Amino acid sequence: MRKKIALIGGGQIGQILAMLAAQKELGDIVILDVPGYANVCKGKALDLMEMAPHGNYDANIIGTSDYKDIEGADVVIVTAGKPREAGMTREDLLNVNIKIITEVANGVKQYAPKAFCIIVTNPLDAMVYVFHKVTGFPKHQVIGMAGTLDTARWRAFIAMELGVSVADVAGTVLGGHGPDMVPLPRLTTVGSVPLTEIATPEQIEKLVNRTREAGTEIVKLFGKGSAFFSPAWSAIVIAESYLKDKRRVLPCAALCEGEYGVNGLFIGVPCLISAKGMEKIFEIKLTEEEKAQFQKTIASVTKTVSECKI
Ligand code: APR
Repeated sequence: MRKKIALIGGGQIGQILAMLAAQKELGDIVILDVPGYANVCKGKALDLMEMAPHGNYDANIIGTSDYKDIEGADVVIVTAGKPREAGMTREDLLNVNIKIITEVANGVKQYAPKAFCIIVTNPLDAMVYVFHKVTGFPKHQVIGMAGTLDTARWRAFIAMELGVSVADVAGTVLGGHGPDMVPLPRLTTVGSVPLTEIATPEQIEKLVNRTREAGTEIVKLFGKGSAFFSPAWSAIVIAESYLKDKRRVLPCAALCEGEYGVNGLFIGVPCLISAKGMEKIFEIKLTEEEKAQFQKTIASVTKTVSECKI
């Protein structure tokens, strides 16, 4: 029997997720959204079914607003949420998305209690915290997609700056999904050559800043809405590692219970993603400067989570 992937939210990221999951033949796909958008999701699903003959995949893809249809899903990817609108404060947005994530968490808990859940909705570190609290799922079953995206951006910018293949850029970005995330130049290499030896300190500073502001850079270009291609791919990489037991080591927002000196918060750390879900968090010995940066990102995530009052 095919695996089942439930996409909660069929907007910009949701539709790319559906396309990638189909093309990679990860399993059957359910796109769930609010009742007022269910027909659009049915249309997107049908469009993808009609793409199959050329896309060369076999999958059953449906759109719905009924949680019964996600029953028994192996993977759930949550992009449901509202974008910030004019006149809305950060707090207003937080409250709206807490409500949405709580509703989604209850639906997933009822119909897909065994699913590996990947949360994408922003503010990411807080939304994954809320989802985990509401479902009460074990920590290996819930992660937030952010570090995987931030790392992709870090690698892409380095490749662009140095004129090298992105395939040869290896590195990681830790911390919360916000402007004080922690790219680690010290541990980044280009074809095994340390980044610190082939890029100037000025170039590295520019790359760090661009990575931290990458989401905003795209929002400014779009004028409305946020990035969707790269967030979707990043979530699919995590889902694939789980479904195929690829055992990738990916930076994800995982529940830390002592790791990196963090207790009870979801924050971006290197995770082993296997058929067991978030199997293990790897700890990196950070320098004093990196530790100071990590403390700053913990403080930001702690503040947002405390505003959730959950
Ligand atoms: N249940 C299910 N779906 C919902 C709900 C809900 N309660 N509330 C909203 N949605 C749906 C919307 O109808 C919309 O189709 O979530 C979808 C979100 O899609 P977009 O607005 O296109 O947003 P997208 O670009 O996909 O980003 C989704 O990911 O990266 C983050 O910041 C981004 O929080 C945002 C999320």
